[in-house]
Amino acid sequence: MNETDSREFRDALGSFPTGVAIITARDQDGKPVGMTVNSFASVSLAPPLVLWSIDNNSAFFDVFMQASNFAVHILRSDQQRLSHDFSSEDSDHFAEVGYDPGIEELPLLKSYSALFQCEVRSRHPAGDHVILLGRVLELRKCPAEPLVFFAGKYYKIGAEHS
Ligand SMILES: Cc1cc2nc3c(=O)[nH]c(=O)nc-3n(C[C@H](O)[C@H](O)[C@H](O)COP(=O)(O)O)c2cc1C
Repeated sequence: MNETDSREFRDALGSFPTGVAIITARDQDGKPVGMTVNSFASVSLAPPLVLWSIDNNSAFFDVFMQASNFAVHILRSDQQRLSHDFSSEDSDHFAEVGYDPGIEELPLLKSYSALFQCEVRSRHPAGDHVILLGRVLELRKCPAEPLVFFAGKYYKIGAEHS
């Protein structure tokens, strides 16, 4: 595929609606880090495994290549602003929103629709991304509608299909 094809590829991928998650971890100095992703997916029920992928050029690439644990926060429909904030590395997002300590001191956001605390099972280089496979150690679920990402924009869940 050439560059035009790659634009078409991105657009076509964007026609698959996803949820939005913020993945958090600690860097090597113990500082909390977090980034917005929509590559999260379920993999296995027994054992409970999930995956997401990180861009090789991400500012947080080194952190997630070293971290032994990560937390996945599935965002609620009213957390579009948080998704936007955690999609850039600048400024200390945690200073604004605060966090609670989780397993292995994982920084846990205070609000989400679901939370998975994971230990890294394996990492798989895949083109310009690395796939991280995590084993879920603990989960929490809140009664909240999820935030949806589709064709580069945010949505709320609409009416249930009849
Ligand atoms: C809706 C949305 C989904 C994203 N999904 C991913 C993803 O799956 N993997 C990834 O590496 N970056 C993803 N990003 C970009 C990262 O959030 C962003 O690169 C990261 O916070 C680091 O910031 P930087 O781009 O300034 O290095 C996504 C951004 C948005 C807004």
